[in-house]
Amino acid sequence: MQQFGIYRLDLQNECLWQAEKQLKLTPRPFSVLRYLVENPQRLVTHDELLEALWPETYVQPQVLRTYILELRKLLGDNPDEPQFIETIPKRGYRFLAPVANAAGSSAGSPTPSLVGRDSELATLHAHLARARNAERPTVFITGDPGIGKTALIDAFSAQVLNTPKLRIARGQSLESFGGKESFYPVREALNSLRHVEDEKARALLASAAPGWFTPNAASSPSLGEICEALEALSQTDALLLVFEDIHWADSSTLDLIAALARRRGRARLMLLCSFRPSDIDAEHPLRLLEQDLLTSRRGEWLRLGPLTKQAVKEYLRRELITDALPSGLSSLIHQNSAGNPLFMIATLDHLRTQRILLTEKGQVTLSLPLAEIELGIPDGVSGVIELQLDRLTDQDRLLLEAGSIYGTIFPAWAAAAALDRDVEAVEESYAALVRRVRLLSIAGQDELPGGTRSAFYVFAHALYREVLYARLPAARRAQWHLRIADRLRSMFAGQESNVAHEIAAHTEAGSRAS
Ligand SMILES: Nc1ncnc2c1ncn2[C@@H]1O[C@H](COP(=O)(O)OP(=O)(O)OP(=O)(O)O)[C@@H](O)[C@H]1O
Ligand SMILES: [Mg+2]
Repeated sequence: MQQFGIYRLDLQNECLWQAEKQLKLTPRPFSVLRYLVENPQRLVTHDELLEALWPETYVQPQVLRTYILELRKLLGDNPDEPQFIETIPKRGYRFLAPVANAAGSSAGSPTPSLVGRDSELATLHAHLARARNAERPTVFITGDPGIGKTALIDAFSAQVLNTPKLRIARGQSLESFGGKESFYPVREALNSLRHVEDEKARALLASAAPGWFTPNAASSPSLGEICEALEALSQTDALLLVFEDIHWADSSTLDLIAALARRRGRARLMLLCSFRPSDIDAEHPLRLLEQDLLTSRRGEWLRLGPLTKQAVKEYLRRELITDALPSGLSSLIHQNSAGNPLFMIATLDHLRTQRILLTEKGQVTLSLPLAEIELGIPDGVSGVIELQLDRLTDQDRLLLEAGSIYGTIFPAWAAAAALDRDVEAVEESYAALVRRVRLLSIAGQDELPGGTRSAFYVFAHALYREVLYARLPAARRAQWHLRIADRLRSMFAGQESNVAHEIAAHTEAGSRAS
């Protein structure tokens, strides 16, 4: 069920609800509304709509207009001052209202509510209570790629978001190039605090860490200054400070985490960090930090394991909106994914796209006997993803590979540089790709020096990017990095210092194997 304004779109019964009143819709306008609601707040072109909804049928573009007219009437939307559907002349439509997942079900959503993590959520709530009591807990969430670290943090943050006297700041360590600046995730977290309407936080951070937050300040703040700023900020109100994926964090950020975990001054601070143990070797500084905090008992570890069969079943019930799952389905998916949520989702996706799993009139059925379903046994963590990638056309895979060079989020110009192609042509190819495969979506537009705009894309999960990147032959990877470095130099000619870090990182990666 997708909710916007006072309406709820019921995907199961193909209708619209206005409070308790059911509004009837014929199938085609319903599909148009569904597509717009599932792609809110961006331009959806006529071609995109027609291709996504009726790829095999010829539908006259004018007919779309009549569907939109019908929808507007139903929603009471005035085309001159639209609340829901905006017409972008000659291009298409944009769904304006924010869309939320209404409770109960979540078809069409990539992240249905969490299953099987009640006890972990309760533990996090208990740590937050300790933080409010100025016991300043430091908590590490660890586990395999795709096991649900981010999802758990998201769910916990959402649960505590509106509790009084609590600030939440979150910073992400990046694997991609340019993300290794000192204190990158710390800056991101503190910046997020400064951007909300929070005068007190703004003033405190400006006075405690002037090096970051006063224009033209001479120097960056020291570790001590940052600790003091954070402690000052968590005297009366609590502060939940989240650092994600610290296996990629720069060493200054790790030093800060170590310092915050060890300091004893009064603070209502909860430090919550996530990382993948599989990504840190014996020499990694995080390993030493972990050892040190373990022996001094200054940290808590929440090690996420696989989902149980029961949790997988619950997920399927919610995702497929039925209590009557085909017999054996949840065992099959549980076994095949080894309880890893990312693989569970990928496996379900596979069954759907191969039309092995069918949903008709609210009934979920299998088109094959259970024993004949071949999923292929995934080999290690990236197995399912490898299988998904192998099913793509060479052209689609190449586009994804080119994007993977830059990062989980990448701009069209970088992929175009890697492929040595024209940016506009590459953007067109991506627009088509995004419609065909679920591995990538459009993240927005960016303005480049000189005023040109370039689309940004984001992988459905960081792991897709990692697997794609790792599979590339070293020589090609190197060549593509060097091309991106060259493109950065020419795009930012005269202001290279703004992107010096990125240029250096791509040049270095480019010289590794060439
Ligand atoms: N308990 C859960 N219930 C339902 N969906 C889940 C659950 N845990 C994770 N997911 C989904 O599985 C996918 C992978 O989870 P997530 O991104 O949180 O993994 P992660 O541990 O952060 O991985 P990484 O190490 O790559 O950062 C996401 O789409 C997420 O929404
Ligand atoms: Mg994650």
